[in-house]
Amino acid sequence: KSYNVAILGATGAVGQTMIKVLEERNFPVNEIKFLASERSAGKEVEYYGMKYKVEAVCEEAFENVDIALFSAGGERSKKWAPIAASKGAVVIDNSSAFRMDPEVPLVVPEVNPEDVKWHKGIIANPNCSTIQMVVALYPIHKVKKIKRIIVATYQAVSGAGATAIEDLELETKAVMEGKYFYPRALPHHIAFNVIPRIDNFEPNGYTKEELKMINETRKIMHEPDIKVSPTCVRVPVYVGHSEAVTIETQEPITAEEAREILKNAPGVVVEDDPFNNVYPTPIEVAGKDDVFVGRIRKDLGFENGLSMWIVGDNLRKGAATNAVQIAELLVKYELL
Ligand code: A2P
Repeated sequence: KSYNVAILGATGAVGQTMIKVLEERNFPVNEIKFLASERSAGKEVEYYGMKYKVEAVCEEAFENVDIALFSAGGERSKKWAPIAASKGAVVIDNSSAFRMDPEVPLVVPEVNPEDVKWHKGIIANPNCSTIQMVVALYPIHKVKKIKRIIVATYQAVSGAGATAIEDLELETKAVMEGKYFYPRALPHHIAFNVIPRIDNFEPNGYTKEELKMINETRKIMHEPDIKVSPTCVRVPVYVGHSEAVTIETQEPITAEEAREILKNAPGVVVEDDPFNNVYPTPIEVAGKDDVFVGRIRKDLGFENGLSMWIVGDNLRKGAATNAVQIAELLVKYELL
């Protein structure tokens, strides 16, 4: 059996990766259509080596669609997801628009696959930083309950979209030539810099990105009381988010125990041999679907503490791959 698929945001950084991931995983596609704004209508995208025309999104575009993969920003999701769902499509939405809606499952297939079963037409794909963190922490949590998570992120510019990727390149070139390129996508110059702000600030001093890490972790792990202390930072990296994570568990856990758990965890690769300079970095992780963990060590700051370094490709596991895995769950559980 094969399915009709639509991608909204097909020209964007995540949309382009969705196309690649559908190909690589051989998702059973019958018909496929590529949707974006009117600006892109008539542009071409490639799928299995063939050129397809991009269409401007409209209501009719969702007729006869089984699965609609959305990555065109929250406002577009709010407008088009209910329309696509009313026409019978299951929407897998990469924006933050529906993630905390109690009627909408928020799914990481390695953690809470069964949650897709109660969808009502929309399933949310979590925030990129949250996905890679829970993929690595949930297997530990199942063995030694995690009470608290302290995390600082080092997030790539591709998470802010195609213009941010271009800006990093143009700013870098300008600096090398003794010139200045005025940033368009981020609130500060990002080349040769780091910016401790991702998404907007809230009155409590946290950014929305940080609050996503708190709230989404609780929803995905079904742990409404787990404590999360995040600081989210943009760094001049094209692809791949890194995270310095410290957890506090209820019972003591050794680094060796954690390493063994993670070696057997789905979607996780342990790269942890620091004396030989083995630990994951975003350049090496970019283009891969797994979440990579290294620097696993007993934390010296408090009892029952464990620290580690988690790296994932934000466009893949943090977005496109996770969305396609959700589509695969819909096929597996015969929910289409
Ligand atoms: P377009 O290229 O036509 O602007 P990114 O996050 O990498 O910037 O990508 C955003 C994606 O969302 C692009 O595919 C973009 O299409 C799409 N998009 C932006 N605004 C709209 C809109 N009003 N309607 C449909 N798609 C949109």
